[in-house]
Amino acid sequence: MTLKKTMTLLLAGAAMTLSASAAMAQANLRVFISSQHQPDVWRKAFDTYETKNPNVKVTIESGGNTSEAQAQYLNTIMTAKDTSLDVMILDVIRPAQYAAAGWTVSFNDVIGKDADAFMKRYLPAYAEANTVDGKIVALPAFADAMFLYYRKDLLEKHGIQPPKTWDELAAASKKVLGAENNPNLQGLSFQGKAIEGAVCTFLLPYWSMGKQLVSNGKLSFDKEAAVKSLALWKGFVDQGVAKKNISEVATDDTRKEFQAGNVLFAVNWSYAWNHFNGAESAVKDKVGVVKLPAVQGGEAASCLGGWEWGVSAYSNNKAEAQKLVQYLSSPEVSEFMAINGALLPQFPEVYTDADVTKAVPWFANARPVVETAKARPVTPRYNEVSEIIRTTVNAVLAGTVTPEQGADQMEGRLRRVLR
Ligand code: GLC
Repeated sequence: MTLKKTMTLLLAGAAMTLSASAAMAQANLRVFISSQHQPDVWRKAFDTYETKNPNVKVTIESGGNTSEAQAQYLNTIMTAKDTSLDVMILDVIRPAQYAAAGWTVSFNDVIGKDADAFMKRYLPAYAEANTVDGKIVALPAFADAMFLYYRKDLLEKHGIQPPKTWDELAAASKKVLGAENNPNLQGLSFQGKAIEGAVCTFLLPYWSMGKQLVSNGKLSFDKEAAVKSLALWKGFVDQGVAKKNISEVATDDTRKEFQAGNVLFAVNWSYAWNHFNGAESAVKDKVGVVKLPAVQGGEAASCLGGWEWGVSAYSNNKAEAQKLVQYLSSPEVSEFMAINGALLPQFPEVYTDADVTKAVPWFANARPVVETAKARPVTPRYNEVSEIIRTTVNAVLAGTVTPEQGADQMEGRLRRVLR
């Protein structure tokens, strides 16, 4: 064999070995998921992915029972430029902030020139939340909105229709609580703890009165509506409709108390449904869900939630992580999570998919609620806005300030942030 031929063969062999080892290179991806959002069900989606991609192993990291607890944890990891985390699930209020901090990578290169068409497949609110200055900074994991869960059995027993206004809800609660004479039964559970969810607590009646908080980046605070909103929630406590220490209640506390059979009406997000109808639930098959009540004379309003997949800028496996996220954000996985985890689809057509409506019949009616749900204010200073609102809601419910004082303080503090 001539030297030239030998060299060519050797080179070809080396190239083959290289490409074979590149194809087989093991990628260990670490994915952060909020503990509240069915990590065990996502695990099954990861198992399917691992079977199709034998070179990828996915490890789940989950923690933090509220949106801010998770954000705090991720902030620490990102500030430390920690390379051990590859993919993270982010509350819909955060992708823009994470992109601005340089903590996530854009998907534009992997999606290619049809990025617009790619994003148009999602419900518009999610395409919007994940696109910042023309860059796709995260991909939707699932949609979310707030709903009113109720005890179907108890309302039927007492001949009551699901309430359409908050006043009707108070009246229904008093009637059922009076008749049931069960000291453990609460009329309404909602989020009064100073958590992200309490921002929505404040905004639900405020929006229902037709008011906005921010328009064109400027504060448009309606003091009267703010007082009324705070007074509505405090009124539930004072009337015995909500429990006295509602100021200590976070989203998953509402879920657990309703699931234990101790609550007639609950304000909560879609994930709760799966728990309410799980084997460990005391209220399995006794739960109804409808859109939230409106204030008297107002329109029903819901708060837009949802979670998004971002790839860490510090990941050593960005390409594999992006591939995994494209799979996680596909209609196939959306359908799987709707059926097995009652997480609302980010794709319009999945709401009416026959398998989905069979597993979660109310999803067919949930789409208009998600589509008309209102987004929390979009501003680079959202963290401060959120902190001001949730601590005020909490203080009013704890009885340390009146609704009037709360609204005054809220306005003063918001004015300083949103000048
Ligand atoms: C839900 C929503 C999320 C919201 C959070 C508040 O998880 O999907 O958007 O911020 O609840 O508690």
